[in-house]
Amino acid sequence: MINDQAASLRDLTKFKNRADKMLRPVRRLAVTSGKGGVGKSNFSLNLGICLQQLDQRTLLIDADTNLANIDILMGIHPKFTLTDVILGDKFVKDVLIKGHEGVQILPAGSGVTEMVGLDHIIQERIDQGMIELETEFDFIILDTGAGIAEGVVDCAAGADEVVVVTTPEPTAITDAYAAIKVISARNPAIKFYLLVNMVKNADEASGVFKKIQLVVENYLSLQIDSLGFLPRDNYLIKSVAQQQPFVLLYPRCPAAMNLNMIARRLLKLPAPQQTGGSLFRKLFS
Ligand SMILES: Nc1ncnc2c1ncn2[C@@H]1O[C@H](COP(=O)(O)OP(=O)(O)O)[C@@H](O)[C@H]1O
Ligand SMILES: [Mg+2]
Repeated sequence: MINDQAASLRDLTKFKNRADKMLRPVRRLAVTSGKGGVGKSNFSLNLGICLQQLDQRTLLIDADTNLANIDILMGIHPKFTLTDVILGDKFVKDVLIKGHEGVQILPAGSGVTEMVGLDHIIQERIDQGMIELETEFDFIILDTGAGIAEGVVDCAAGADEVVVVTTPEPTAITDAYAAIKVISARNPAIKFYLLVNMVKNADEASGVFKKIQLVVENYLSLQIDSLGFLPRDNYLIKSVAQQQPFVLLYPRCPAAMNLNMIARRLLKLPAPQQTGGSLFRKLFS
């Protein structure tokens, strides 16, 4: 009898959690850039940890097809990747790794974005796995590769929000604009944010943001919002060498302080409309 009551209480709680979840769907955020080496992976991993510390269940997908980086930044060696789902007998859930603070990592494995969309049955399996995963998280952060190659753009365009990372370098700025142009052409409903990394100070960051905002508004008729900036910080470089996330290793360093603010800002921003895109699916194949 008591067991019955406990069971029905558990069912009720489960139901309530599910109902809450339906009211507050997962936020699917891609992190991308035009130019490589601008700080996407460091930003993605450390943002994931900050969000998790703010009680947001976070899934971090390492979807850089060329340089699988998150594992190196964390000092871990994934046994399986999404490639084992595509080519082997694993399910998406089997491939997850529990990272710092409970953030979950899904290593995509090399070449995964080129392979998806090729086989209908595999695509179904990945889609089903992703749909199930989406119900269990508050945030999905997709760390993509750089550039405007098809796989990268498809991957980023499947999200609902995209953070474009740039540095103040002119080449990075030009390439960031190119990435925004291509991603918005693929998914016009996606919400854009800019993160300026490796800056000297807030003024430099705001100059870069204004430059990009001007061309994006004038030439693409799009809105882009600033998500903030990360200063150039030697502690971040040290943390990479030690294969530990900087927000945990040096929580008071300037980059960590800013990233914490960015995570809080992101939580306050209204979640955008779900664009109906699916991660790991070619949008218009
Ligand atoms: N805020 C920063 N301050 C100093 N160095 C940085 C910063 N962000 C990134 N870096 C440097 O850039 C390198 C590349 O960063 P990473 O996150 O791997 O870039 P991406 O994922 O865009 O290729 C890091 O290993 C680090 O040396
Ligand atoms: Mg990277």
